[in-house]
Amino acid sequence: MRRVLFDLIEKMGLSRLILFSLLLVVLLFVVMQIPYKTSRPGTFSLVPREKPGPWQAPDTSSIPKTAEGDLVRYGRKLIAKTADYLGPRGKVSHVANAMNCQNCHIDAGAKLYGNNFSGVASLYPMFRPRSGKVESIEFRINDCLMRSMNGQPIDSTSLEMRAIVAYLKWIGKDVPKGTKPIGSGTVELPYVLMRAADTLTGKIVYAGKCQTCHGKKGEGIMFADSGSFVYPPLWGPQSYNTGAGLYRLGRFAAYVKYTMPLGATYENSHLTYEEAWDVAAFVNSQPRPHKVFSQDWPDLKKKAFDYPYGPYADKFSEKQHKYGPFGPILMARDSANKKGNAGK
Ligand code: HEC
Ligand code: HEC
Repeated sequence: MRRVLFDLIEKMGLSRLILFSLLLVVLLFVVMQIPYKTSRPGTFSLVPREKPGPWQAPDTSSIPKTAEGDLVRYGRKLIAKTADYLGPRGKVSHVANAMNCQNCHIDAGAKLYGNNFSGVASLYPMFRPRSGKVESIEFRINDCLMRSMNGQPIDSTSLEMRAIVAYLKWIGKDVPKGTKPIGSGTVELPYVLMRAADTLTGKIVYAGKCQTCHGKKGEGIMFADSGSFVYPPLWGPQSYNTGAGLYRLGRFAAYVKYTMPLGATYENSHLTYEEAWDVAAFVNSQPRPHKVFSQDWPDLKKKAFDYPYGPYADKFSEKQHKYGPFGPILMARDSANKKGNAGK
């Protein structure tokens, strides 16, 4: 190294070498600025394309004015105003209840921690333990139609399905394949209660913080003269059925913790963890359409801890799997997993 340096000094002279090094530093500095300025197509970026920090949905005004863009826009409408197209008075078909996808995927799935769609395009097709299969996006959408919207699946080649898929791909287009953005979907809550969730306390939470919009009987409020809701129902014949994700206490609690009462966010939650679990218990103790999907959870060891229908790989009752206490269930599962892995 030293030899090389001496040779250089000999050939160039010290002052020229210093000048040369300075130039090199300036050049390096300039090159390092390039990635911040080159978002133009056809240019080369030295840093990965994704922005650090939380996901942000692309701006809807950037949807291209092409046939593909039209499909994306139609998909967005189907998600925001599902009932107008697929509900009991829908203009396309009557495959779903009167709810909108957006009732549970806030802002058409654009809201951070609002059960958003940021990870759909990047993660699907994906293996899910509920079905025990690798699921396509179409399969997953039909799951929500049959469970959360208590309806029927739609054909995967139909215009409506293609439009919804196009929208989901558009909204997740900037997320690198195989990655799951922070705050995507419904996140797990960091705690389970030490006790069972309590329907009586939950009823008090409901009366104080939910009832004005969702109604005394959880029936919601409909627009006059239309087949859709201003405030969607939380139980009763128009609500999600017993096969839906929200019927599991953990999913419900996690969803409402960061979204309800309407306007709540991750940073500004209006419910304590206890309130979220208890109101989940109260709402899910009320009557709703009963639909059991007997093919669900083919591997009992992977069955969700809060899925309220047996059989189970453990000895806990359906009641405990519904309301908790979940701690003992999770601990038993943990030690069973350790034993199962011991030989590997
Ligand atoms: C009653 C509430 C509800 C309604 C209505 C609903 N969904 Fe969902 N959806 C959920 C919940 C909850 C999850 C997450 C389940 C989980 O975490 O296991 C979910 C998950 C999804 C996913 C997978 C997201 C991911 O990140 O893995 C897609 C795609 C989806 N829904 C599409 C739709 C579409 C399209 C509609 C309308 C046709 C719809 N959903 C209506 C509650 C709902
Ligand atoms: C100010 C009115 C308002 C209050 C108060 C409110 N919600 Fe909601 N809630 C809504 C609206 C509106 C939606 C649908 C969101 C959308 O379409 O953008 C919704 C959606 C929901 C959903 C998903 C859709 C469904 O019907 O299953 C659940 C679950 C829910 N709310 C639970 C609660 C709970 C629990 C509380 C009390 C802690 C609560 N909400 C308080 C207005 C409200």
